[in-house]
Order: sequence, then C-alpha cells, then structure tokens
Amino acid sequence: KEIVVSGIRSTGFLHLGNYFGAIRNYIRMQEDFNCYFFVADWHSLTTHPDPKDLRGNVLRVLAENIASGLDPEKVALYAQSDIPEIAELYLLLNMLAYKGELEKVPTFKDKVRLSPQNVNAGLLTYPVLMSADIMIQRAVKVPVGKDQEQHLEMTRNYAQRFNNRYGYLFPEPVAFNFGDNLVRIPSLDGSGKMSKSENEMATLYLADEDDMIRKKIMKAKTDSGPAAPDAPRPESIVNLFQLMSLVSAPDTLQFFETAYDNQSIRYGDMKKQLAEDMVNFIAPIRNKARDLQQNPGYLNRIMRDGAAKARENAAQTLQQARKLIGINYY
Ligand code: TYM
Repeated sequence: KEIVVSGIRSTGFLHLGNYFGAIRNYIRMQEDFNCYFFVADWHSLTTHPDPKDLRGNVLRVLAENIASGLDPEKVALYAQSDIPEIAELYLLLNMLAYKGELEKVPTFKDKVRLSPQNVNAGLLTYPVLMSADIMIQRAVKVPVGKDQEQHLEMTRNYAQRFNNRYGYLFPEPVAFNFGDNLVRIPSLDGSGKMSKSENEMATLYLADEDDMIRKKIMKAKTDSGPAAPDAPRPESIVNLFQLMSLVSAPDTLQFFETAYDNQSIRYGDMKKQLAEDMVNFIAPIRNKARDLQQNPGYLNRIMRDGAAKARENAAQTLQQARKLIGINYY
C-alpha cells in the first residue's frame, strides 16, 4: 500500500475548506492506502496559543476528523508532538533549506505582512517542519487543499537534495486530490479562500449550529442577477454554485444552473436551498464531534495508538537518515 500523510493545524474550528480540501480525501483514501493523519500542534505554536487551550484544540480536531468519517482502526491518527522523530528530521532538513528560498514562500510573506511583530524562525521554517512530517513516514501522496501546493514543492526539493547528497531514502511526494485539481473552497464574502480565522461570518465551520449556517449563507455575497444570457458569471455566483455542487443533489444543482442560464434565477431561493442542504451536511458531523468530545478518554486512546504506529515507521526512517548522513558512531 502506498503511504499517505496529511495534517491539520489545531488553530481553531475546522471549516468547510478543511473538509473538502483535506478530510474528504482522507476518508476516500483510508481503505486503499497506508494512512497517517495527524494534528499539527507544533505548527500551531507559531502564534503562541494559551497553554491551557492546547489539549482541547487537539482533541477537537481529532473528534472532527472522526466525526467526518475517519476510522481510527484503519488509519493512524496522532498528535505531531507525540512523534519526536519528526523534530530530529526537521533539524537535519534545516541544513538543506536555504533562507532566501524560505523567505520567498507566499504563506510566509502573508504572515510577515499580517503580523510583522511576530516573524519568528518557526514561521520561516514552517515548510521544513511540514516536510519532516511527510518525509518521516516516506509518504508518496499528501491529500491537501490548493493552498499547500507550494509547500509540497519544497518538500520534493528537500527530498531530492537529501537523496543526491547522501543516497536514496525519500520518495518525492505529491499534493493529492481525488479528481484532477486541488480544491480551494472560497469564502462566503467573495474575497479569497475560506480560512479558520479571517472572517467568521464568511466561514462555515463544522461546529456551526443550524441557524448560524442559514444566517451565513443568506448573507453570502451575490449580485443583482445575470446581466445577459452568456455574460461570464461573477465570482460570488461561481462560488455559490461550487458550494452547491458539493452538498446538494445533482438535480438541485441542475435546476439552478438552468435557471441561471435562462435568467430566471432568484438568488434568495438558491441560497435557501443551499442553506438547507448545508445544514443537512454539517449537522451530523457537528453532533457526532460534540459527542466524541464528551469522551476524552477514548480520544486519548486513539491518539496514543496512532502515535505508537507512526513512531514505529518514523524511527526506521530516522535511523536510516542518520546512517546515511554519518551519525552512526556505535
Ligand atoms: P491547515 O491546518 O491550514 O489546513 C488543513 C487542510 O485544509 C486545507 N484547506 C483548504 N482546502 C481547500 N479550501 C480551503 N479554503 C482550505 N483551507 C484549508 C489545507 O490545504 C490543508 O490540507 N501546513 C498545513 C498543515 C500541515 C500539513 C503537514 C499538511 C502540517 N504538516 C504535512 C500536510 C502534510 C496547514 O496549515 O493546513
């Protein structure tokens, strides 16, 4: 079985972007691949979260993954910080990562722009740690959303540099999505992608209550209707149709597509329908995640078992990496 790795930062409530960019792929891959899925709690430390929040944040991400359909019997589910081998590989990979290259990464430049008062080295070397997460398991496929594409390119660079210098150890992993293209779920306000923090009213969380889901969708940006039969669709409308294609029945989607084409569409009706379909999609995940969080003992057990499995494979990789580099003295 091919090895698959992916992670989600424990920085807030999971949203529809996390689901359709990442988790949906996890679920589809869990049968046929050897899967390692983790909560990236070290990565969450770049913004110095309150220590008393960490445990709850990690358990919630875990619960939301399981509630979405991940089966802990089939995949290893763990916390990144339970795998010290990742930290050692990260140190080793830092010697192959160049400062200039890291400074050019768009996600880093965004962070510098948004919080210039906290440009720490952890932020700069974020892609190196992410590469270590992936390479420690010698993964070949990494299910992620579009925003992670560039990070994967860097991972391939580090794998290549290591292999060229020390001998072959690491496959070159690719960002993966079922279907051709990596997914990018747009924000409801028509500006950019859906994200954990930026604008809560424009983000649909897997933990949102039914009325909140309805409220957010009814407020989503639209325009005044198709200007001409073959005018290009404005981005906000493309976005609504994209969301509908993910959670509504095919004939519902078709109905509104046709209505759009013959200019009889009423966005209010479309949003009402989308809201109901979204409620039906999110509510069971939300309720299951809530139940799971009532049982931290169960979640802890899953995390421990997952970590044991992940460490076993990680230790083998690390041992070989040390040996190839020459750190094998005894
Ligand atoms: P994070 O925590 O920001 O997001 C988790 C996953 O959700 C995807 N995603 C989206 N996909 C589509 N549309 C969106 N609007 C959207 N928003 C988020 C992300 O692409 C990601 O797949 N660096 C990673 C975490 C990480 C990781 C790794 C991933 C750490 N180590 C190793 C894979 C392998 C991150 O910040 O994801």
